Amino acid sequence: MTKVSVIGAGAVGATCADVISYRQLADEVVVLDIREGFAEGKALDIYQTSSLLDFKTSVVGSTNDYTKTANSDVVVITSGLPRKPGMTREELIGTNANIVKGVTENVLKHSPNAIIVVISNPMDTMTYLTLKTSGIDKHRIIGMGGLLDSARFKGYLGLALNAKTADISATVIGGHGDTTMIPLTRLAALNGVPVSQFLSADQLKQISADTMVGGATLTKLLGTSAWYAPGAAGALLVENIVRDQKRMMPCCVALDGEYGQKDICMGVPVVIGKNGWEKIVDYKLNAEEQEAFNKSADAVRNMNDVLATLGL
Ligand code: LAC
Repeated sequence: MTKVSVIGAGAVGATCADVISYRQLADEVVVLDIREGFAEGKALDIYQTSSLLDFKTSVVGSTNDYTKTANSDVVVITSGLPRKPGMTREELIGTNANIVKGVTENVLKHSPNAIIVVISNPMDTMTYLTLKTSGIDKHRIIGMGGLLDSARFKGYLGLALNAKTADISATVIGGHGDTTMIPLTRLAALNGVPVSQFLSADQLKQISADTMVGGATLTKLLGTSAWYAPGAAGALLVENIVRDQKRMMPCCVALDGEYGQKDICMGVPVVIGKNGWEKIVDYKLNAEEQEAFNKSADAVRNMNDVLATLGL
């Protein structure tokens, strides 16, 4: 039996649970929230789509009762405040760090072997916090950022190329922040053909800039941060774990010298399987990309340093 728990029944958590359910990625999905009855409501609503969408996944809601999450194979953490328009992901650290730390402790009490997927923002720092405070093997902690940012990158490329995103391969590495993410334009391709053969340097620059502020653009339009793509990206990561697919995707993981960085969690291409992330793939960055990666690491590290001032 495969069991996945999603902590936080806000828009991202509920969307993630919804996609996991209708794609039958688990036998049981538990959604947990601190708001009385809220997760139960979301779970019941998702469950009531089962005859419409033809799925068999059990969907269970829980008001802060972690015993319901016991023995989960994967736990997705979405808890914390979302962004408001004009806010950076980084401004959420004070509130979200304490929430994420508490959630992780509760999760591991009941699912000591779970793979932890971190979505809460600022995602790179929340992943690092989980690594530092949980004491579990680094391979079991995966931040979901690069997958979402790469999906947005493919989306903007698809619009500019007038092509289907399924035919586009494109990766964003680095931090999951408006100024820290690195869309790897040089390596983006349409069915193997470099996109630079179809788009001008200026167009590619614009696509890269749009990708970097992709989340902020949506926050401005929606009045809060996005959920469909973040939730679906979380679910795709869950799929790769529970089905042991060994696919390669950009995720935020602990670096120990890879990409020239140590003691930090950042987005790099990794192979994902049932035990978490298995290996980091070296994309052999050119000098300019490596410089951008180092700058991104400096910004992520500055944010990680804030944890100490919070006593974490
Ligand atoms: C975003 C948030 C979830 O990028 O970080 O939409």
